[in-house]
Amino acid sequence: MFTAIIRPVLFRVSHDDPEIAHHLIMRQLELASRVPAALRIIEASLAYRDPRLVREVLGLRFPNPVGLAGGFDKNGRALPALAALGFGFIEAGGVTRYPQPGQARPRIFRLPEDQALINRMGLPNEGAVAIAERLAHSPRPRIPIGWQIAKSKVTPLDEAVDDYLFSLRKLYPFGDYFTLNVSSPNTPELVRLQERAPLEALLRAVVEESMRLAGPNRPKPILVKISPDLTQPAIDDVIEVALATGARGIIATNTTVSREGLQSDPHEAGGLSGRPLFARALEVVRYLGEQVQGRLPIIGLGGIFGPDDAKRMFDAGASLIQIYTSFIYEGPGIIGHLNRGLVRHLACQVPITDIENEREEEVSHE
Ligand SMILES: Cc1cc2nc3c(=O)[nH]c(=O)nc-3n(C[C@H](O)[C@H](O)[C@H](O)COP(=O)(O)O)c2cc1C
Repeated sequence: MFTAIIRPVLFRVSHDDPEIAHHLIMRQLELASRVPAALRIIEASLAYRDPRLVREVLGLRFPNPVGLAGGFDKNGRALPALAALGFGFIEAGGVTRYPQPGQARPRIFRLPEDQALINRMGLPNEGAVAIAERLAHSPRPRIPIGWQIAKSKVTPLDEAVDDYLFSLRKLYPFGDYFTLNVSSPNTPELVRLQERAPLEALLRAVVEESMRLAGPNRPKPILVKISPDLTQPAIDDVIEVALATGARGIIATNTTVSREGLQSDPHEAGGLSGRPLFARALEVVRYLGEQVQGRLPIIGLGGIFGPDDAKRMFDAGASLIQIYTSFIYEGPGIIGHLNRGLVRHLACQVPITDIENEREEEVSHE
């Protein structure tokens, strides 16, 4: 129904500015988030649950390993409805210390023949203070919620640490984990925070602050989200710094500034996401997996459109995955599609004899 009816209508009305479709959908999700009966109907018709999908990662329990990537619900206005669709976790944000409008519209561009998007949103959001105030009076879904924080555009790079700390303090009560976005290509110089020295200073300060804010409780995990455009030595630096500072995971990857592998010939500036990103994102996740050897969980994303892509991300070393662009192109059915595929894959991994033994046990217990 989504690809046959809803998507053509949505894409048509938002032909000149794809962001219109985003706001239309977000408005519906936000309204549904306030109506418990609507949430129950959405959940009953869309969410796919199976105990074999449950994951324990970062000290948290995920009902399934398929999450919504950062940047979709920037202000955390539709978390209950997004959870009802069946996501196993949601990364809300990116949030900055100061409210900011982002870049001029249009700033999202669809490349349908590539099943890709280019965006130069520039992290528009209501700012940490306003978001935290609203969250204090909003229901919170029962799945893990990560809050992603980023540097405000107006903050100079050498004052970035305070900017991140401010947002962390404001949002701390409302998240289960926190991601430091140092990889959006649309905020000037932000990606320089991935370099060894600034990253170390940032992670050290934020991890320490998380410990302080937690008091006697377990500190909430701090993760870092990286760009697919990093070189191998730069990825090595991120791994070393993450391990040395007590960061709890790496999210790979954000959008790319590369235009490799495209059928279309777009001339828009911004970060590319979707199918053409998959090969590079997988390569980065595989490299991380080999180097990290289980010492840190990896969340894999970038161009995941089907169960086979998901499986390859897990095989490469990801503990969890996230999606964004396939959610835009395929609609909410993609979440169940990925999860069903994973269950089928898990079922195939169990030797037939074991399945038969289980069946025999069940019969003898009846
Ligand atoms: C319109 C749009 C906005 C995004 N905003 C953010 C953001 O605020 N923070 C972030 O870390 N990533 C952001 N991303 C990147 C996604 O979270 C994700 O890393 C990237 O799109 C690759 O995954 P995908 O191919 O499944 O979309 C955005 C992506 C898109 C398309």
